[in-house]
Amino acid sequence: MTAKSDTGHPLIRRLGMNDLDRIYEIEKLAYPYPWTRGIIEDCLRVGYACFGLQIGKDLAGYSIFNWAAGEAHLLNLCIHPDWQQRGFGSLLLEYTINQMARLENKTIFLEVRVSNPEAASLYKKRGFRVVGHRLSYYQAGEEREDAIVMRLDI
Ligand SMILES: CC(C)(COP(=O)(O)OP(=O)(O)OC[C@H]1O[C@@H](n2cnc3c(N)ncnc32)[C@H](O)[C@@H]1OP(=O)(O)O)[C@@H](O)C(=O)NCCC(=O)NCCS
Repeated sequence: MTAKSDTGHPLIRRLGMNDLDRIYEIEKLAYPYPWTRGIIEDCLRVGYACFGLQIGKDLAGYSIFNWAAGEAHLLNLCIHPDWQQRGFGSLLLEYTINQMARLENKTIFLEVRVSNPEAASLYKKRGFRVVGHRLSYYQAGEEREDAIVMRLDI
């Protein structure tokens, strides 16, 4: 797979059902254990906040969160492998945090696989700190994998 060279003009927009196929395509490319199409569809249907990073005509990444009682939960943040390591993950994370703050959330929680130090590093750089572990939280083929729980107060 070749990295893209034309960065166009990145913009961030709300995602809808029309984006489902592309989100699922990126999900399968970016994660060893991707969400199912049904999970993504449910997120779009039930009104979770779903934002997409668009570069030219290309949807390059997305973030998904839900929230209640002042707490936001970042459920997914993903950049297409062709567009990674160019600052777009940080850009989308920042935008997503701003949206969470606009919805009057005071705290953000997220889980990250212990095998994903790249993502943990992104979150730590933005000020998230590790507040716990959830044992065997994720499926990992035939096995289970622990999650690191991270928190940011905003
Ligand atoms: C995690 C992810 C969103 C980062 O997006 P990105 O656009 O590549 O990130 P950025 O270019 O903004 O990088 C920001 C920071 O993330 C960390 N990072 C990103 N990619 C990394 C890598 N391959 N190795 C080590 N650190 C990495 C670094 O701390 C980096 O800061 P630096 O450039 O100053 O070193 C992206 O790798 C991704 O979508 N991964 C697959 C899905 C995933 O794991 N999502 C997180 C689920 S919790």
